[in-house]
Amino acid sequence: MLEVTNLCKSFESGFWRNKKVNAVDDISFQICEGEIFGLIGGSGCGKTTTSRMIMGFLKPDSGSIRYNGRELSTMKKNEWLKMRRDIQIVFQNPQMTFNPRSTVYNCCAEPIRLFHLAKSREEERSRVYEMLDSVGVSRDQSNKYPHEISGGQAQRLSIVRALSVNPKLLICDEPTSMLDVSVQAQVIALIKEKQMEKGISILYVSHDLDVIKAVCQRVAVMNNGKIVEMGSADEIFNRPKHSYTQQLMSSAI
Ligand SMILES: Nc1ncnc2c1ncn2[C@@H]1O[C@H](COP(=O)(O)OP(=O)(O)OP(=O)(O)O)[C@@H](O)[C@H]1O
Ligand SMILES: [Mg+2]
Repeated sequence: MLEVTNLCKSFESGFWRNKKVNAVDDISFQICEGEIFGLIGGSGCGKTTTSRMIMGFLKPDSGSIRYNGRELSTMKKNEWLKMRRDIQIVFQNPQMTFNPRSTVYNCCAEPIRLFHLAKSREEERSRVYEMLDSVGVSRDQSNKYPHEISGGQAQRLSIVRALSVNPKLLICDEPTSMLDVSVQAQVIALIKEKQMEKGISILYVSHDLDVIKAVCQRVAVMNNGKIVEMGSADEIFNRPKHSYTQQLMSSAI
């Protein structure tokens, strides 16, 4: 379904913009239909840069990103807009996903309006209420602003909102790293439940080994912009081959 080949992206950094950071350095991986694929690695190894390139927020320097055989990295904006529905993202900070000046209701209604998914105001309202109900957020919270609901509630809403347009691929970039442990478990359970229900593919990005272990079927380990090892979750966690993977495992214990 998604085929990333020899993808590269570098940034200029430093005060004089005189240093080059190879944020993503020649990585290749594939995600099959219905699969949960994990991308794991320490801070700054290039996970978010990879997600942003797949989402079309950043242009790669070189390499290809193919979605169902179609090249995304060179796609024109209007073609992209048609594809946008198929690939959705859930960010680390749920408050960042929502417009701080919109009510929770309007935030949830945004994709419904953007993709003309409701024929009337009533239908829109019932779809928004369905979203709130499905994650146990009471309907009277819908008049609040995003910062007035809890981080866990906001993240659960951002997940069902992303899923409301029936995407084929969901990118989850550290969706639980800003939540406390009990809420993390709820959010992970929600992602797994929705993945089973809808059979979508997921690119799950995290630096947390336990989360990746609980969620993913196949895993790629990233370090300094490169994928150093890739395999089934069982292989990576029980028989890690690369020294960096072994180091990650031992530092987690
Ligand atoms: N817009 C940018 N300009 C300059 N450098 C950037 C930019 N975005 C990312 N980088 C650099 O690219 C590298 C990879 O960053 P990235 O955000 O992809 O890492 P990450 O794996 O998502 O880290 P984390 O786990 O902390 O979220 C880092 O060295 C970062 O400083
Ligand atoms: Mg990141």
